[in-house]
Amino acid sequence: MIGYGDEATNFVLELTYNYGVKQYLLGNDLNRITISSKAVFESVQRQVPQAELLEGGGALRVLSPDGYQFLVLDQDSSIKGQAGTISEVALNATDLPRSTVYWSQLLGSSPQASSSDRETVLSPGEGQAALRLLQLPAGAAVHHETAFGRIAFSRPGAELKRVEADSLAGGHTVLTPFVSLDTPGKASVQVVILADPDGHEQQQASHRSRVATSAVPHSHACTPSAHSGAERPRARLVVFVSGGGSNFKALHVACLDGSIHADIVAVVSDIPSCGGIAYAANLGIPTLTYPIPKSKAFSGLTVEQLVESLQVTHKADYVLLAGFLKLIPLALVQAFPRSMLNIHPALLPAFGGKGCYGEKVHKAVVAAGVRYTGATVHFVDEEFDSGAILAQRVVPVFPTDTYSQVAKRVLKQEHSMYPEAVAALVDGRVTWRADGVPIIWTAA
Ligand code: GRF
Repeated sequence: MIGYGDEATNFVLELTYNYGVKQYLLGNDLNRITISSKAVFESVQRQVPQAELLEGGGALRVLSPDGYQFLVLDQDSSIKGQAGTISEVALNATDLPRSTVYWSQLLGSSPQASSSDRETVLSPGEGQAALRLLQLPAGAAVHHETAFGRIAFSRPGAELKRVEADSLAGGHTVLTPFVSLDTPGKASVQVVILADPDGHEQQQASHRSRVATSAVPHSHACTPSAHSGAERPRARLVVFVSGGGSNFKALHVACLDGSIHADIVAVVSDIPSCGGIAYAANLGIPTLTYPIPKSKAFSGLTVEQLVESLQVTHKADYVLLAGFLKLIPLALVQAFPRSMLNIHPALLPAFGGKGCYGEKVHKAVVAAGVRYTGATVHFVDEEFDSGAILAQRVVPVFPTDTYSQVAKRVLKQEHSMYPEAVAALVDGRVTWRADGVPIIWTAA
């Protein structure tokens, strides 16, 4: 991250974004970022021998260690009030005329005279960086990969709802409808997040202060102040079930109501006829069978196929076991390091392990005469119920309880504790103590 100061005159450029992203593969969507600053020019010239001198010596082309391309101009920005800043962001386009129409209408700006049939330059307004659209060679597609970015333009908050309505009316994509984000100690900021015809994400944000901020290009972008739910990509969850799937349903509802900033992108089961699979199928969520069932009536996946399907086809960020009865093979555990959770209906390490599942757990709890039981969310390793404990909830056991009364009381707690733990993981609020114990931090 560079450049952090008063928001009235400063910008933040974030080139990494950790939540739910494991690999930063650069696509060809962002072409370059231009910085206009004599001071930056001099320092790049002094310190980066690989920088390439262009335009008769007035510009340096430099690649960041991650491959992002920057153009540094030997002139201070003409953006009012800002001596050295990002003055332009260049995006690649597959159909320049189409993109030009889209962005001109959106930003209310006509193409500058320097535009040609290979590139269009638009000036969104005072205090904002220019946008350059560059035509890709014929037949080339825009690839966003996993390090895709989002740029932000500032405009009066009152205009945002109209921008959203116009985008919808024009048949364009609205990724996040109008939302107001409260930032403690500051005025709240309103945003609408859109995608252009090539899928370039962009955020139209209300002015936070009197002076508009620059356009902010960033990879897996967020604004300077908050990694808020509306601004980061939703994580992709895969849930494993073997039974009714009430925990899966609780997770699904939490994704829908925004408590978990994620989507359930697939459901896996060893029992294709179970309630959880029926529920998923009804919602149109893709379902997979693992392992290959003994009955020839159903086909299923090998572990290699499952890993590939989750990683490549479904691009899963996290795997959540919710009543899945089979042991998770090592290959799958290793494919999702620190990213796979299970919920168990007891206070582990008590009443867990191979064969201790379902009503057997609660029968054992009642028979043992323990006064308290509960539920545990833990990371998954290659054994039953033995991974690092992430969260626990305690439930009383009364002297007259039957095992089914205990089961009901525990399950009720599971339905709120599992979504809470998953939200913490997805939000990046889980840190690891040096001795390997994961700790949840409460959202500020
Ligand atoms: C839950 O009690 C969970 O703790 C255990 O299996 C049960 C699944 O119930 N791992 P459901 O299918 O989510 O209703």
